[in-house]
Amino acid sequence: MTETKPNGTQFEGKEEYVRSVFTEIAPYYDEMNDTMSLGMIRRWHRFMMRLAGDVRSKRCLDVGTGTGEIALMLAGEGGEVTGVDITPRMLEAAREKAAARGPPAGVRFELGDALDLPYGDGSFDVVTSGYMLRNVTDIQRSIDEMHRVLAPGGRVVVAELCKPDNRVVRFFYEKHLKYRVSRPGRRRDGGVAIGGRQPAYEWLTSSVEGFPHGREMAAKFSAAGFEDVRFYSKTFGAVNIYAGRKA
Ligand SMILES: C[S@@+](CC[C@H](N)C(=O)[O-])C[C@H]1O[C@@H](n2cnc3c(N)ncnc32)[C@H](O)[C@@H]1O
Repeated sequence: MTETKPNGTQFEGKEEYVRSVFTEIAPYYDEMNDTMSLGMIRRWHRFMMRLAGDVRSKRCLDVGTGTGEIALMLAGEGGEVTGVDITPRMLEAAREKAAARGPPAGVRFELGDALDLPYGDGSFDVVTSGYMLRNVTDIQRSIDEMHRVLAPGGRVVVAELCKPDNRVVRFFYEKHLKYRVSRPGRRRDGGVAIGGRQPAYEWLTSSVEGFPHGREMAAKFSAAGFEDVRFYSKTFGAVNIYAGRKA
């Protein structure tokens, strides 16, 4: 097991940097996700839907919604969905996608911060979030906020990337990062430094380094007050999906 950083990778100006990264990659974000995950991302999303349960007519919030893929899946299952994100350009892409897919039934996209969600206590029945936690400045606070906006009995389902613990798997994972993420990423982002820091796809891969996962991350959901907290390791440990219930 590699050593973890309990609050992920943090640095001065992270929020602004993250917003710039996602502003840069919004136009090709979905395409890159498919390439990088070898199409597995759709399976992870389907698994998230199973954990969310029957969402018909339920109030759902997708935090760090990005281009809205999870939000649109929830809406497709009959949820009344709000997708929230801090990057306007990602939200624009989400709205364009929703419009292209058909009538915008049951989904809206709003600007807002995961660390200070612009919703009252107990406003939602289901909260989801995909691959956002590495990008926030305070992981625990963001999970606490998910708990706060859920109504009693509500469910949380969160997916995040992680570095596999198994050394053999990790060897292949590093190769995957190099050939399927860093190289295609560099072709897209041009290797251009953002805000004097790493290019976009370098950040997206390096932020996995030491990111808390498994039991350590599940403990943060319990600390927020969630019950029945579970986590599921997918694709040889490259992704963890966490689920819990608000009492
Ligand atoms: C890796 S993308 C994930 C997008 C989407 N959930 C998905 O499954 O593809 C991370 C998203 O989190 C957003 N984000 C980062 N920090 C945030 C914050 N503090 N509040 C809300 N959204 C945030 C970014 O703007 C970005 O759209």
